[in-house]
Amino acid sequence: MQKNLDAYWMPFTANRQFKKSPRLLSKAQGMHFWTPEGRQILDGIAGLWCVNAGHGRQKITQAIQDQAAEMDFAPPFNMGHPKAFELAEELVKITPEGMNKVFFTNSGSESVETALKMAIAYHRVRGEGQRTRLIGRERGYHGVNFGGISVGGMVANRKMFGTMLSGVDHIRHTHDPRNFNSRGQPANGAELADDLERLVALHDASTIAAVIVEPVAGSTGVLIPPKGYLQRLREICDKHGILLIFDEVITGFGRLGSPFAAEHFGVTPDLMTVAKGLTNGAVPMGAVFAKQQIHDAFMNGPEHLIEFFHGYTYSAHPLACAAGLATLETYADEGLLTRGAKMASTFEQAVHSLEGLPNVIDVRNIGLVGGIELAPIPGEPGKRAFSVFLDCWEKGVLVRTTGDTVALSPPLIIEASHIEQIVSTLKGAIQRAA
Ligand SMILES: Cc1ncc(COP(=O)(O)O)c(C=O)c1O
Repeated sequence: MQKNLDAYWMPFTANRQFKKSPRLLSKAQGMHFWTPEGRQILDGIAGLWCVNAGHGRQKITQAIQDQAAEMDFAPPFNMGHPKAFELAEELVKITPEGMNKVFFTNSGSESVETALKMAIAYHRVRGEGQRTRLIGRERGYHGVNFGGISVGGMVANRKMFGTMLSGVDHIRHTHDPRNFNSRGQPANGAELADDLERLVALHDASTIAAVIVEPVAGSTGVLIPPKGYLQRLREICDKHGILLIFDEVITGFGRLGSPFAAEHFGVTPDLMTVAKGLTNGAVPMGAVFAKQQIHDAFMNGPEHLIEFFHGYTYSAHPLACAAGLATLETYADEGLLTRGAKMASTFEQAVHSLEGLPNVIDVRNIGLVGGIELAPIPGEPGKRAFSVFLDCWEKGVLVRTTGDTVALSPPLIIEASHIEQIVSTLKGAIQRAA
């Protein structure tokens, strides 16, 4: 069965380690993957935070198959196909109020680039072309393209790639030891949003186009916004005419127990990036949601001219639109966009039972997201969590690690027995890694 693994240069993977000891997945259904040898693996991370309705959903599969048979591709520039419009219409029924324009992309990274360009261009079309500066946050993750790593704040993703975009600055991250072992939103740190005032004082608001943050940061190890923090960021943006962008690539589509984090926290951004759960991971697709007035600012000039010089060959790809429509139907049929809220307290209690285990320095959770931060092995950052990941894999549970934090983000169809299996497997692995 084993193929030659040599040619494939794997993304975000320790390639040499993997190829010595491969971890292959060849089948998936519901809460589970199977290896080519037939070993069952419980999916603790919804694939990669994307398979929110669980794997192998028949409605989605059927929609993709039907669409492929009917029309494989249609050009998205100056042409359209019905499902692209239908999907946008369906999406704006669940977006936060006022966010009723949808621009399609093919990934989270492309959504981020699109939103950043939209923000700068928006200011220009309304006569404030000097607002070009972009503000991100330390420890932020916004995908891997140049805009995204520039506003992003994870050093390993940045240090190899030169000077990136100019005119970018960062506010401080919100990770605060005072909040260790908080359940849900931590109490301390709303004032960290005031760091944006520092950058306004340094650069002047008239040069700043937008601030981009993840409402809950995932890739940097599950950082949950302190109570009041996002509200304060919104206020400061409003005060200075700065656009607020929420990167909801992982929080979108029910992860926190609400359709979007914006709704969960009661803070509406100006632009929102999504991907992953948009098609349940079945076909690559991303989107940017924009407030009506941002879109409208572009709608001037001669009508035969393109208003926004941006788009991708595969924007609103027919297969992705079909998958997206079937995914939204599945979410609605099963109430999945709010199911996380029902399961959150069972999940919370289970993950917090890991507090106090050897080397566990913090446990944090919100909705169906959990983060278990381990003390690094001195001089070998990331190794302890990676050994926990490998141990869980051997025992039939897929978790994810970033640095020395183990992250959990299971499919939203999860039942209490799955939560119990994930957490008890983790418990054993953490004890063995001591
Ligand atoms: C917040 C956030 N933004 C952007 C991305 C990038 O998405 P993609 O890998 O689809 O480009 C991710 C991926 O995990 C993410 O978590």
